[in-house]
Amino acid sequence: MVNTLAFDVYGTLIDTNGVVEKLTRHVGNLSVDFSNTWRNKQLEYSFRRGLMKNYVKFSVCTQQALDYTCEYFDVDLSPKQKEDLLKQYNDLPAFSDVIEALTSLRASGHNMYAFSNGDPVSVDAVLTSAGLRDYFDGIISVDDLKSFKPNPDVYHYFLEKSGADISHSWLISGNPFDIIGALNTGIKAAWLRRSKNMIFDPWDYKPTVTIQTLPEFSGYLDESLR
Ligand code: LAC
Repeated sequence: MVNTLAFDVYGTLIDTNGVVEKLTRHVGNLSVDFSNTWRNKQLEYSFRRGLMKNYVKFSVCTQQALDYTCEYFDVDLSPKQKEDLLKQYNDLPAFSDVIEALTSLRASGHNMYAFSNGDPVSVDAVLTSAGLRDYFDGIISVDDLKSFKPNPDVYHYFLEKSGADISHSWLISGNPFDIIGALNTGIKAAWLRRSKNMIFDPWDYKPTVTIQTLPEFSGYLDESLR
């Protein structure tokens, strides 16, 4: 059975901590905390923008979250240094297990989409630079709806745009809020728990399956088809 797979991008395929090396040059040993605060603020801004119905591109959330994080850590970056960090956001690495998993899922014939808060140009850029673009049938972005995950409308939009049958659709994401968003609209969801430190929100939702690496998902689908 062919499934339609929606892959979250940032934090699932693409490692947002790829900025840490560059950050270390600017903020020394604060770099990991800085990167985590930046990422959390970026997501918070997207949630708030979605609720306020005051959409801006995800890249604007990223830029404003960087400004916030500089203030928070009392770090004075020049406009050029900030620009340099923001550029890096379109040039982040893939996690090391991604190519193996995408290769095997493609070989099994599944329909595969990148499904992201990022706008199509940014997602295309980051997937291309990480060598992942060709694995996907398309990019489906919340930008078309001017809202953000986990608004249920964006998950319904994914189904509509991909033409997928909901009973054979999956979201694969490392972000618990995204998994809950998909489950909330009836889409099956594989939570990629790359680290034991990641906690699934103790709400009344459970991932359909939890995996530690992306290739495990491919194995899981093959098994469930037997
Ligand atoms: C995305 C965010 C959740 O790629 O990171 O949609």
